[in-house]
Amino acid sequence: MSTAISPTAYNYKVVRQFAIMTVVWGILGMGLGVFIASQLVWPQLNLDLPWTSFGRLRPLHTNLVIFAFGGCALFATSYYVVQRTCQARLISDSLAAFTFWGWQAVIVGALITLPLGYTTTKEYAELEWPIAILLAIVWVTYGVVFFGTIVKRKTKHIYVGNWFYGAFIVVTAMLHIVNHASLPVTLFKSYSAYSGATDAMIQWWYGHNAVGFFLTTGFLGMMYYFVPKQAERPIYSYRLSIVHFWALITLYIWAGPHHLHYTALPDWAQSLGMAMSIILLAPSWGGMINGMMTLSGAWHKLRTDPILRFLVVSLAFYGMSTFEGPMMAIKTVNSLSHYTDWTVGHVHAGALGWVAMISIGALYHMIPKVYGREQMHSIGLINAHFWLATIGTVLYISSMWVNGITQGLMWRAINDDGTLTYSFVEALQASHPGFIVRALGGAFFASGMLLMAYNVFRTVRASKPAEAEAAAQIAVVGAH
Ligand code: HEM
Ligand code: HEM
Repeated sequence: MSTAISPTAYNYKVVRQFAIMTVVWGILGMGLGVFIASQLVWPQLNLDLPWTSFGRLRPLHTNLVIFAFGGCALFATSYYVVQRTCQARLISDSLAAFTFWGWQAVIVGALITLPLGYTTTKEYAELEWPIAILLAIVWVTYGVVFFGTIVKRKTKHIYVGNWFYGAFIVVTAMLHIVNHASLPVTLFKSYSAYSGATDAMIQWWYGHNAVGFFLTTGFLGMMYYFVPKQAERPIYSYRLSIVHFWALITLYIWAGPHHLHYTALPDWAQSLGMAMSIILLAPSWGGMINGMMTLSGAWHKLRTDPILRFLVVSLAFYGMSTFEGPMMAIKTVNSLSHYTDWTVGHVHAGALGWVAMISIGALYHMIPKVYGREQMHSIGLINAHFWLATIGTVLYISSMWVNGITQGLMWRAINDDGTLTYSFVEALQASHPGFIVRALGGAFFASGMLLMAYNVFRTVRASKPAEAEAAAQIAVVGAH
């Protein structure tokens, strides 16, 4: 291997910045999750103030965990993966820096405006038009940096992880821009360009694909790089990964109407959404199996490697939530689950079990590499984090299943004379124990993030970023 220094060293600075902010926003977003979960146990925690009420803090929680925590994890890993698999530096340091600072500005915008009550009222698209425009500009710049780097790659083919990241970037831009088409009336108030059932359809075409492309496709890109790397095995089947990619992106885009069962949406659209959701089980499980089977011959590593455990358990939760989702999309099942905590349980099986756990595993793999360290400061702490996260997720989702089914059955119970058997408040009282268990599970998960912050702090304090970059230079030169 040559030791000459090449000018093509990777840009790890932006990767480090996004990686650290993933941990920071993770703690804030999940901490807020624990707070709003506690508000549902002890309503006094609403503090009788508008800014701290559940209704305002809930969208702040979803924005912080999805866009701040999940978004920073996706930026960090995609910039890392695209450079290493293309053996090329990001096309522009200043554009990459713009995406970092622009993204943080969007999040700070959310932190200020959502508690003040400024909202478009569209779920996961609450940010008002000036912030939404900034977000669109940052996103298009992200696309330029990512695809520009792919264009100037030194490798012949484009690694499959980049296909997934690429689809996530393109489709997120399309969804965000179409769903945010609106008429601004003041600096912080706008009205949707669509109305009635059309507005609802476009919102849930956006909403479901925020799940499908933001919370799934991008993280699958992460999976295709970090699982083989950490297991030190090639991906189980490259052919399956290509079929997985095309099938997943073709089907996801049609499934949105399953959020609008039994509404004013035309019946055929509801049935189409249901059918596409059921078929979606196949590519979802194809991807899950491809990741799991990569461990063939390496299963013993799970005994000693908590990072691999994070990655594999995340795939197990991915498999579970993508089995549950198609079931919930069946109209008769949805008539029981909709509006209940079952949906919230499903969300967090995906969000905690899949999205957060794969991100945490990927960060534990990547942070030492971009800080010039052999490994994280403490493997024992990673192990403790793993158990806190797993137990926390299980407590969260099992309590929500019990609550959801209890609520659904109580709401629909009818006496012989046609009157309701239970009042709404009775169903709420029956849900109280589940709310306590959920808050406890959330506290487990969030305290694991505090261990992570300490572990990252100690790793960074002992770091030599310059050496990480020099090692990258050598790797780039050595590969040619
Ligand atoms: C410590 C961890 C967490 C706790 C305690 C927590 C708690 C909560 C609570 C209490 C709600 C409101 C439920 C309701 O309205 O009844 C909620 C909603 C939500 N959370 Fe979390 N959360 C956590 C982590 C996350 C993460 C990491 C993500 C995403 C990556 C996430 C995504 C969401 C979403 C999408 C919703 C809206 C669900 C819906 O509308 O059905 N949460 N969370
Ligand atoms: C094959 C895959 C999946 C299908 C077919 C599916 C289907 C569904 C269905 C039917 C609902 C309930 C809609 C309602 O009654 O309102 C739902 C809600 C939801 N799912 Fe999934 N799901 C899948 C995977 C996932 C994954 C992997 C995640 C997260 C990472 C996720 C996140 C969500 C969220 C956030 C909601 C709540 C939306 C809201 O009402 O605010 N889903 N999903």
